[in-house]
Amino acid sequence: MATVQVWDPLIRIFHWTVAVVFVANYFFNEKGGDLHIILGYTAAGMLVLRFFWGFVSHGAARWSDFFPTPSRLVAHWSSLLRGEGYRRLGHTPLGAVVMILMMSCLAGLATTGYMMEETDMFWGVEWVKDLHWGFATTLLGLVVLHILGVLYESCRLKENLPLSMITGRRRR
Ligand code: HEM
Ligand code: HEM
Repeated sequence: MATVQVWDPLIRIFHWTVAVVFVANYFFNEKGGDLHIILGYTAAGMLVLRFFWGFVSHGAARWSDFFPTPSRLVAHWSSLLRGEGYRRLGHTPLGAVVMILMMSCLAGLATTGYMMEETDMFWGVEWVKDLHWGFATTLLGLVVLHILGVLYESCRLKENLPLSMITGRRRR
């Protein structure tokens, strides 16, 4: 079957790094421990790289390729309402909304983590801790939505989308 490269190596490394860090930091390691902080900063570094990559790369990684503008969202939404098959090589507009929200939560986690860990002013401050927890738990909800969306789209399109995030390739 003819396939085409959609997700470049940087997107894939970014993706699986943030996925592993999220699961490790939310469920497994000591909150605020050394490993938590190292992993958290690793995800933050990848996010900064991904941000700039969206301006200099080509194809599906570019912000301009997938940014969910109102006209793109309306087009996607109305094609869903009409029951038409919607497929594009790259993020769909509604999927992109979830992705940008996930990236924003990661940025919020890194910022509040930094405030708690590296500044005297915010060390031990309750609202910063609460905000950090809020970003982490919102991200958990978005990740569930994201995975359900990926699985639903994989069934609908009869295409293995999780595999595409490993190989980088999708059906032409
Ligand atoms: C994917 C990234 C991250 C996730 C999912 C995450 C998740 C969490 C969660 C769920 C808690 C417990 C919050 C609570 O119960 O109140 C926590 C605590 C903490 N996190 Fe993170 N975190 C991340 C990144 C970071 C980063 C980058 C830093 C620091 C640079 C950091 C520093 C801390 C600290 C110091 C605490 C302990 C707060 C306290 O004293 O209760 N985290 N984190
Ligand atoms: C566990 C935490 C996860 C997080 C935080 C996460 C986050 C993200 C982000 C930020 C993107 C956008 C990538 C970019 O443009 O650079 C993305 C895309 C994607 N993710 Fe995840 N992800 C997670 C788990 C998963 C899992 C478990 C799967 C597979 C079942 C998956 C499959 C995908 C796929 C297929 C795409 C591309 C979607 C599309 O067709 O537009 N993700 N994810």
